[in-house]
This record gives sequence, structure tokens and C-alpha cells, in this order.
Amino acid sequence: MRKISIIGSTGSIGRQALEVLERLGDKFEITALAGGSNTDLLLEQAEKFRPKYLSSDKYDERLAKISGVKYLPNGLEEICSNKAENDIILVAVSGKIGLKPTLKAIENGIDIALANKETLVMAGDIVMKKAREKGVKILPVDSEHSAIHQCIKDLNQVRKLIITASGGPFLRKSIEEMRNATVEQALAHPKWNMGKKITVDSATLMNKGLEIIEAHHLFNMPYEKIDVIVHPQSIVHSAIEYKDGSIIAQLGVPSMHIPIQYAITYPERYEGIKTQSFSFSDVARMDFEAPDFDKFPSLNYAYDAGKKGGSATTSLNAINEEAVFAFLRGEIKLCKIYDLIEKLMPKCTFIAEPTIDEIFELDKEARELTRKSLI
Ligand SMILES: NC(=O)c1ccc[n+]([C@@H]2O[C@H](COP(=O)([O-])OP(=O)(O)OC[C@H]3O[C@@H](n4cnc5c(N)ncnc54)[C@H](OP(=O)(O)O)[C@@H]3O)[C@@H](O)[C@H]2O)c1
Repeated sequence: MRKISIIGSTGSIGRQALEVLERLGDKFEITALAGGSNTDLLLEQAEKFRPKYLSSDKYDERLAKISGVKYLPNGLEEICSNKAENDIILVAVSGKIGLKPTLKAIENGIDIALANKETLVMAGDIVMKKAREKGVKILPVDSEHSAIHQCIKDLNQVRKLIITASGGPFLRKSIEEMRNATVEQALAHPKWNMGKKITVDSATLMNKGLEIIEAHHLFNMPYEKIDVIVHPQSIVHSAIEYKDGSIIAQLGVPSMHIPIQYAITYPERYEGIKTQSFSFSDVARMDFEAPDFDKFPSLNYAYDAGKKGGSATTSLNAINEEAVFAFLRGEIKLCKIYDLIEKLMPKCTFIAEPTIDEIFELDKEARELTRKSLI
């Protein structure tokens, strides 16, 4: 029996992870569950799964009163320091709050199933270096990176990684329609049901930009060898082209249960939660097309920041995250996210090899610049 904690258990990935764990039965013991402000759901999860520890960002007296459970308000880092009671931690919080707990888990030698891509976008060099030093596995949960992880045998023989993108809700809409999109339209993703931040990122294709940076760090792959291809059916989750021209892709129904399970059970595979079986004969067609870099400039921003390296991707992540929150609050139009990135990236301080403290400083600087531009 392996011991696992989930930080972000009340979110889209966290809830699906609990469904996966329920199906896996006694293969896992849940050490801790942690959420943010949805303490009603966390309470329900605690009663059902009986973890040893609970944490929430919003204090809730009811969580402190559950017998046999230790309540650790704001306890993400404490949970991630508990090596004795964790074989693996699923980091499923969204946004920048994933970075500190992930670093804590690495320092303590605990393997990580990483859903929170912002961690690698903010500080990929530091995170991956520390993980290598500590012998900690960073197992990707993102379906594209899970696909690559499942296809890769020998990194030295890879010609390029091919990351697929569904194209999001505005793939067939005009730039004008996209510019004037409501929050509701941006959240109506055609293929994936996810948290709000990543769904808006998928609408602007910034999610794919963040994934390019994530792939660079996870697989130590130069940006020149990472391609994006739009594949609206989301059946091919990503692929690798080897030096000899052979392509290996991972396919399946679009369900996060599969990559979540693969990350936490790696290298084993089990009969998992009952996802619909994939039928080649039922697939009428699979389309692939090059992304439109003019309509979705976020891909350029990601390649540019990634190639520049250092703190550039930290700033990109911070501006984007603040701009997405402003869009969700109804303060800006969707395409203003692009304008803010373009305008503010040159104003952010750049450090080629930032320390972790500098990363947090530069993250703060970029967020402040973004908030000031909103006024
Ligand atoms: N959803 C997907 O299909 C998917 C696919 C690939 C990658 N990812 C990545 O996985 C991460 C999570 O995505 P998601 O869609 O699951 O997001 P989500 O539904 O918004 O869930 C976010 C989780 O983080 C928790 N949280 C927020 N602020 C917190 C805080 N200050 N302290 C502790 N917990 C906090 C939330 O708690 P409350 O809800 O209780 O506030 C919730 O449990 C993101 O980085 C995303 O890019 C998601």
C-alpha cells in the first residue's frame, strides 16, 4: 500500500484523482487532503476518505472538529514535508501556489505527480535540478506530457516532441468574436471540463504555451525540438518523432483519469476507473492543422520567453495569471491578456539565473505591474 497526499483535492484534478483512488482500493492510503476555500467539499471528502491530515486556505472550524484527523490550516508545506507518511504527493492546486509545496516535497525526497504546470513555468530550472539532486521523480499529470512520458524510451534518439492542442472554443471563431468573448464563452471548452484558470488559458492557447515550457523542463528538450499541432478531436494526446522519422503517439478518450492514474501508479498499470473504451471504428476522422500564431500569439510569447530562459517565463506566468483573473472578474476583454503580456514583458526585470527568492520577487513585480495596468 502506497501513501499519497493530494493538495488541491477540491479542484477538477483533485476530485478526479479521488475517483481514481477509490477505484484502486487498497493500493493507496490517503495521508492528507488539502483545498483552498471550498471547505464544504473538503469536509465531505474528509468524511468519505478519512485522511490523517486536512488543510484548507480558508479556516473552517468544522474541519478542526473531525475526530481522528489533524487539521493544518494553510498546511500545504507541512504536508509536503512529511516524508514518513508520503510516498507520493499529487500537486493539483492551480497557479503559483503550487511552487513552494512542490519544492518542500522535493527537499524531503518525496516523489511528485505534477498537475500544476505553473510550478515548472515559474522555476523549472531550479525545480528539475533539485529533483535530480534528491533523486525525486516528477511524474507528469498533464495529458500531453503523460503521453510523451508514455512514448519516450531514449531521449537521445528523439528528433522532436509533438504536443497536440484541441484549439479551444475559439478555434473556428473570428478574431473579432474572440476579442469580444464573454467569460461564459471562454469557459465553454469543447473537450475538457477543467478549472477556470486553465480553461481560460486553453481559450487563449496560453495553456499550450505553458505546456511547451513544461515539456522543455520535464524532458530536457530544446524549444526548437518542441512542436505544437492542433488536433480538435483530442484523441492523440501527444507524440514523439524519433531520429529515424518514426512517430510514436499516445491515444485514448479525452479523460484526465488515465494520466492521473498513470502518474500515481507509475510504472505499473492497473484496471482503472471505468473510462469509455476507445474504438477506432467509431472515430469518423482525426484532423491535424498548424496553429495560427497570429490569432493565438501566446504560443510566440511562450517560445520567446522559454528561449530567453532565466526569469522570463516567471514573468510571463505572473502577467498571464493576473490578467486571467482580471478577465474572470469581468474587468478586461479576453484579448487584453495578450496586450498586457506584450506591453509588460519588456518592463519586467530579467535575471538569467535567478535564485528561488529572486523568482518570488520577480513574480511579485510582474503581478504588481499587471495590476497597475488594469487601473
Ligand atoms: N483540470 C484539468 O483537466 C487539468 C489538466 C492538466 C493540467 N491541469 C493543471 O492542474 C492544476 C489544477 O487545475 P484544476 O483544473 O484542477 O484547477 P481547479 O479546479 O481550479 O482547482 C484548483 C485547486 O487548488 C485549490 N486552491 C486554490 N487556492 C488555494 C490555496 N491558496 N491553498 C490551497 N489550495 C488552493 C482549490 O481549492 P478550492 O477549490 O477549495 O478553493 C482547488 O482544489 C492547474 O495548474 C492546471 O493547469 C489541470
